[in-house]
Order: sequence, then C-alpha cells, then structure tokens
Amino acid sequence: MNEQAIALVTGANRGLGLEVCRQLGARGYTVLLSGRDPARTQAASAELAKEGIVIHPLALDTSNDDSVRAAVERITQQWGRLDVLVNNAGGNFDTDHLTSTVSMDYVRETLEMNLIGAWRVTQALLPLLRKSQHPRIVNVSSGAGAFESPIGFGLQKMGGVVPAYSVSKTALTALTVKLATEFKDSGILINAVCPGWTATYPGAEAQGARPVADGAAGIVWAATLPDDGPSGGFFRDGQRLPW
Ligand SMILES: NC(=O)c1ccc[n+]([C@@H]2O[C@H](COP(=O)([O-])OP(=O)(O)OC[C@H]3O[C@@H](n4cnc5c(N)ncnc54)[C@H](OP(=O)(O)O)[C@@H]3O)[C@@H](O)[C@H]2O)c1
Repeated sequence: MNEQAIALVTGANRGLGLEVCRQLGARGYTVLLSGRDPARTQAASAELAKEGIVIHPLALDTSNDDSVRAAVERITQQWGRLDVLVNNAGGNFDTDHLTSTVSMDYVRETLEMNLIGAWRVTQALLPLLRKSQHPRIVNVSSGAGAFESPIGFGLQKMGGVVPAYSVSKTALTALTVKLATEFKDSGILINAVCPGWTATYPGAEAQGARPVADGAAGIVWAATLPDDGPSGGFFRDGQRLPW
C-alpha cells in the first residue's frame, strides 16, 4: 500500500486541473492526473514529472461509464484506495446563449459535463475513498451558479446569458450539500469551491482574470483540509460563500 496520500483530479490535462495536480504534487501527494484524451493526459503528466512530482496519467472520461469503470479498476489494482477526489472537469460557459432559447441538447450536454460526470465519478470512487483515513472530495463549482454572489458572477447578475453553465453549477453545489449530508460524521469532507475568474484561456489575465495558481490554491485548500474541517460548504479562497 502506498504510504503517500493519493489524489485524483479530473479534467487535469490543462487549466485549473493541471495546476491543482502541480500544487498537490508539491505537497507530496501521489497525483493521478486524469483526462479524456490519453495523449494530452500523458503529455501533461510528463510536464509535471519534470518538476519532480509523483504523477500517473489516468484515462478518464467523466461522461463515459466504461471509462470510469476502467479507471476505478486501475486504482483498485495499483493503490487499493483513494484519499482525494477533485471533480474539476467542466466547461460550456455559454455567454452566447439565452435562457429562453438555449437548445435542450446543449443544456443536456452541459449538465452531463458539469453535474452528472462529477456525480458518476463520485459514486464509482466512494468505495475507494472509504478506505482512506482522511477522505476529501472537492467539486469545482462556480459563483455563476450562486443565488447570492457578493462579487463577480451570480444567477441574478448576468441577465439571461450563461444559462446552461450557471444552472449546472447550482446543481453541482446542491449535489455537494446532498452528499455531505449523507456522509455527515463519516470522516469524508465534501465541499464545493469556486476558483474565482481564472485565466485559463488566452487573453483572460489582461481582462482581469486571476492567475491560474491563485484559482487553484482554493481548490487545494479544500482537498487538504484537516479532519476537523468543514463539509457541505461552498468556498472561494478558503472563505465560505453564500449561495
Ligand atoms: N476558469 C474560470 O474562470 C472558472 C471559474 C469558475 C469555475 N471554473 C470551473 O473550473 C473547472 C476547470 O476550469 P478551467 O478554466 O481550467 O477549464 P478548461 O481549461 O476549459 O479545462 C476544462 C477541463 O475539463 C476537461 N473535461 C471536460 N469534459 C470532460 C470529460 N467528459 N471528461 C474528462 N475531462 C473533461 C477538459 O478536457 P479536454 O482538454 O479534453 O477538453 C479540460 O481538461 C471547470 O469545472 C470550470 O467550470 C472555472
């Protein structure tokens, strides 16, 4: 059995997921860098390995039952447990859609990507997480899905745009609360984190988005909580947010 804590990050071949892998690796975690494109997942892992991080690429398409099953099988065989799950894979920030006209195909695709994928992966990995002494689950959500958003995006702050993404992230935060309630007093700490507006695409930093390392730090905070840490909350930079 590996003595180091083992962390799996979904959608980690780029952006926040890649940086979360880097920061967890720097803290001594064995990191399973997962993604749906094996070539890009391997390339990203090779990049972090050069920094001395203990990293293993893992093929994992969060939308695909067979892929999730295969990933669980591999972790079971190789490590026998999981300590941290970061449900980071997501997207479809749909600024070009309106709530009144967005297609149901797009809504369905977005719910699959941002909600059901995390739900599927969590269900599949719970047996391995329950074998950990200090299990943590982090759902990477967004203030865009919050009823109250003191700063930045929020359900009532963007007019009708970003409908599918916002609703999917509200649902992901709700899923977090439901899971945390089910696993209350079990030792599994489950939280949702908004990384804030983060520069994961070209030109974003010049428009005011924060550096990727800063957005990732709040996710890593929730992934590395002490045993008496919170569960069922929604946080940014370690601060509880209303939602
Ligand atoms: N950046 C922000 O300002 C911001 C703010 C709030 C919340 N967030 C959330 O933070 C998370 C990461 O965002 P980001 O900005 O780093 O986005 P990103 O650069 O677009 O990366 C998204 C990642 O998710 C992966 N992904 C999507 N569907 C997947 C699936 N079915 N299976 C496996 N991987 C999948 C993508 O894989 P491919 O490379 O294969 O497409 C990619 O690796 C997302 O959940 C996002 O909603 C971001």
